Amino acid sequence: FIKNQSLPIVLKADGLAAGKGVIISESYEDAEANLRAMLIEEKFGEASSKVVIEEFLQGIELSVFVLTDGKEYLLLPEAKDYKRIGDQDTGPNTGGMGAVSPVPFADADFLEKVEKRIVQPTIQGLRDENVDYRGFIFIGLMNVSGDPYVIEYNVRMGDPETQVVMPRIAEDLLPLLLDCAQQKLSNRNIDINPMTASTVVLVSEGYPGDYQKDKEIIGISDVEQAQVFQAGTKIQENKLLTSGGRVLAITGMGNTIQEALDNSYAGALKVCWDGLYYRKDIGQDLLKT
Ligand code: GLY
Repeated sequence: FIKNQSLPIVLKADGLAAGKGVIISESYEDAEANLRAMLIEEKFGEASSKVVIEEFLQGIELSVFVLTDGKEYLLLPEAKDYKRIGDQDTGPNTGGMGAVSPVPFADADFLEKVEKRIVQPTIQGLRDENVDYRGFIFIGLMNVSGDPYVIEYNVRMGDPETQVVMPRIAEDLLPLLLDCAQQKLSNRNIDINPMTASTVVLVSEGYPGDYQKDKEIIGISDVEQAQVFQAGTKIQENKLLTSGGRVLAITGMGNTIQEALDNSYAGALKVCWDGLYYRKDIGQDLLKT
């Protein structure tokens, strides 16, 4: 099957692999070796016991979020996340190193295509198959010359997309979720803050490979004009310590992408621990476009 595909070939672990289960192969030999590693050597454990072989799409990725009560749906703000560990999208994939919302290239025209070609058929598909799903749908998309292609679906929000999507929801989330659970979304809109949100993820040295834990984190209380979301942290003997790869995310808001980024990065400069690392180029590609 692989030999009948055009290069490069995308191999994707069908199960959950913390956002890291995709390998892109530039030759048939590499693709075969990678497929063996996934299926036989269990490269991603149980997650790669089944592998999806896909065409390679050339474009820019973004994440679109839908809240559905199983019948109706609301579109939440879209976001772009940054998956590679290194600046300029280099190095291995991570769960996500930063995010920006809104996404300038997702203009009204593009989002209308997303809604008509992808969101509406998806919701209709759930109805046709009698799936009573109420909650978030995360659609990972590629913008290929102005046309949206689906990369993946998740039935959850995204990390770190949530850290830029939620601050742009300008109303209380709880009534919204209640209306979703009670199938009352047809009666309502969602109030979106037009400002830009950006988030920068601060990680442990070595992530997404092996990394050390239990490093003391200082400076969080000095962060101003930005919100700190903790993930891989713990408190021990009254000290805040790292306890994961992606340790925390710092979200800034602004009237422009630059202003939001300035607030995120000013916050990141205040935080410190031994081995702290973060990407310095979140949002730079969007500024250029
Ligand atoms: N940031 C990608 C994800 O949450 O799957």
